[in-house]
Amino acid sequence: MAEPFEQILVLDFGSQYTQLITRRCREEGVYSEIAPWDMPLSKIRELNPVGIILSGGPNSVYDTAAPRRWKDLIALNIPILGICYGMQLLVLGYGGEVTPSKHHEYGSASIDPDLTSRLFRDLEKSEPVWMSHGDQVSELPEGWYQTATSDSGIIAAMEHGDKPLFGVQFHPEVSHTKAGSKIIRNFIYLICGAKGGWSMQSFARWTIDNLKEQIGEDNVICAFSGGIDSAVAATLVHRAIGKNLRCILVDNGVLRKDEADQIRSIFDSLFGDNLIVAKAGHEFLADLKGVTDPEKKRRFIGHRFIRVFEREAKKIPGTRYLLQGTLYPDVIESAHSRGPSQTIKTHHNVGGLPKDLGFELIEPLRYLFKDEVRRVGSELGLPFDVVSRHPFPGPGLAVRIMGEVTAKKVALLQEADAIFMEEIHNAGCYNDVSQAFAILLPVKTVGVMGDSRTYENVLALRSVDSRDFMTADFSQLSLELLGKVASRIIAEVRGINRVVYDLTSKPPGTIEWE
Ligand code: XMP
Repeated sequence: MAEPFEQILVLDFGSQYTQLITRRCREEGVYSEIAPWDMPLSKIRELNPVGIILSGGPNSVYDTAAPRRWKDLIALNIPILGICYGMQLLVLGYGGEVTPSKHHEYGSASIDPDLTSRLFRDLEKSEPVWMSHGDQVSELPEGWYQTATSDSGIIAAMEHGDKPLFGVQFHPEVSHTKAGSKIIRNFIYLICGAKGGWSMQSFARWTIDNLKEQIGEDNVICAFSGGIDSAVAATLVHRAIGKNLRCILVDNGVLRKDEADQIRSIFDSLFGDNLIVAKAGHEFLADLKGVTDPEKKRRFIGHRFIRVFEREAKKIPGTRYLLQGTLYPDVIESAHSRGPSQTIKTHHNVGGLPKDLGFELIEPLRYLFKDEVRRVGSELGLPFDVVSRHPFPGPGLAVRIMGEVTAKKVALLQEADAIFMEEIHNAGCYNDVSQAFAILLPVKTVGVMGDSRTYENVLALRSVDSRDFMTADFSQLSLELLGKVASRIIAEVRGINRVVYDLTSKPPGTIEWE
């Protein structure tokens, strides 16, 4: 195996901002991973991080059930930066005092950083920061120095007199802390002495070298959907092993209009002509007959997908590995689950495969966030069309047809959706929005066409702007564009006589309607 990346380890004490810390480190050129706060010391030693960041957390350090850890970390002699709750742990560990604040301090504040501190190199005399804490440090431990005070008078930062240990009460990872990236950069380079060099180019090179070594002469199969994740994952493996990668496209009958052909042509342009297309639409539609419950739809589609994929995979003998496009947020989610949380929608990997199909898994994207996958795609020279393609859910149009899914409704929605896409492309908006699509409603309304009364279905249009698809705003598409799409759909698609635009953000809505 090629040398692993130099890294900053982020120990997660439950903050909603933990992922952001990792992202900020990576943006500054050093790979960073999140680990549970109680990761065994031996494992931390193995990872050999150049620095450790203790995240914030929702608890008070005095809660009986609060996650507490400092002694063994300090003994490692690796630079540590404690953020918020992380800082308070260091205070407690060294014998200082933390007390509840009068009010939970939440929002913008300003601090006066000590500009002689290495952590605050190149900052201004006064800096806006983001605070979110219920407790505060009321007495510094011996051997520690205060390096910033907030405008409300609290100890906003501290550092140890002779050890590379630092604490900040505010959140440098949040964009409202204007100098946040500088602070993270100072920690990484000036304090941890990192070399840097984490980039999507170095990641791609590293991954291809490792895949070559790991896979050797063995065969790999993959479910190819034409989406960015499967395209990037397959390209990395293809660069490593060439024709020993075989891809299968499961055509579930609920793809967009001409989507299977488009996926084939993406595939051909990337890897040449050996995609296996399993046309199984009739099987999926048979399963969906009479099903209206969204969760059932997802489950049925998920199960059928696995069966069809397995059947096709068996036709390729001598396969050892299965390629999966698992991303870093999925890895964190499954490793850090904090007890049962409500199922909003069955896991998004519907249209994914279980781990027990009898193959060994290869997950080259398991270290990356979605936007990093796009950047790897660009580094690998994938066409812009592929890199900028909107996401499409595994259960496809089935979750965009409210109520029972039938072949007729699929055809209707495909036509309407294709018009929406065409007009969005014509207006030059496709790359400005994150995801756009149409939804067929099970509601009929009265209209008039020529001299006749119509009584047909309503169609909804949805377009959202989002960085990470966890939150989203509806896109501010022009009324001219929306009007044009609506009149074309009503004129050209028999069966739809009314079109509406969805103005719901996420939260409280979700992006898909089911
Ligand atoms: P929601 O509807 O939860 O969607 O706001 C967030 C993003 O995930 C996509 N999505 C899915 N992708 N299988 C997938 O592969 C699914 O079952 C699934 N459900 C939602 C959705 O299109 C959006 O980009």
